[in-house]
Amino acid sequence: MLPQVEIVAHRGFSEIAPENTMAAFKKAQAAGADGIELDVQLTKDGEVVVIHDETVDRTTNGSGLINEMTWAQVRKLDAGRWFSEAYAGETIPTLRQVLEWVAGTSLWVNIELKNNRFAYRGLEEKVVKEIERTGLERRVVLSSFNPLSLRHLAACRPAMERALLYEHKMPAPWIYAKLIGVSSIHPHFSVITPAIVERCRAKGIAVRPYTVDDEGMMEELIEAGVEAIITNVPDRLFWILNG
Ligand code: G3P
Ligand code: CA
Repeated sequence: MLPQVEIVAHRGFSEIAPENTMAAFKKAQAAGADGIELDVQLTKDGEVVVIHDETVDRTTNGSGLINEMTWAQVRKLDAGRWFSEAYAGETIPTLRQVLEWVAGTSLWVNIELKNNRFAYRGLEEKVVKEIERTGLERRVVLSSFNPLSLRHLAACRPAMERALLYEHKMPAPWIYAKLIGVSSIHPHFSVITPAIVERCRAKGIAVRPYTVDDEGMMEELIEAGVEAIITNVPDRLFWILNG
């Protein structure tokens, strides 16, 4: 029998729907995902919005930096047509909108704070406030490539699960994880080995690699004992796990 591994849909079911939209999150749920991953940035007037890039250029019909636009400007953009005419009319959701929808499901949410290039002032507090507002404290994992952001979250909300994102080889991530106060790691799948997964598990550190779409790689990681796999194709992982 295969070990229990959770399916996390990367930016929603982003292979078949425009990433980080309600359509992509709903498709992920329908495909059997346990969780959804999403990215957050901050508008000029302080709204936490769900979008991967720092600009709206790639995934909407607009252009410009999110942190130079107001929410009133961002909400008018079409975030679906770039992907397919079938998704015309999709918009950039706020974090609040996604969390309110999640509250009525059994999904959990991996919120990636995109505070790498811009040190978005107050992003951590705003994200935490939205989570507490919807009562989803135990159904979220906050992740970031920025260790300072994770340290900050550890200081202000120690009980909320945090995960370190990284993409370069790290010989002993369990040590670094303890140093910055996270209980899980989200490494790029290419930089982990079964030995690392085993050591992390022994130290109580959950391992959820990203972004894994290849069937063979999914099988290797399941065998290695990861807790979850972050994927653009949750249906593929569902079929591997459920036959
Ligand atoms: O959660 C992992 C993954 O989302 C990090 O990379 O660029 O897809 O946000 P990116
Ligand atoms: Ca992400």
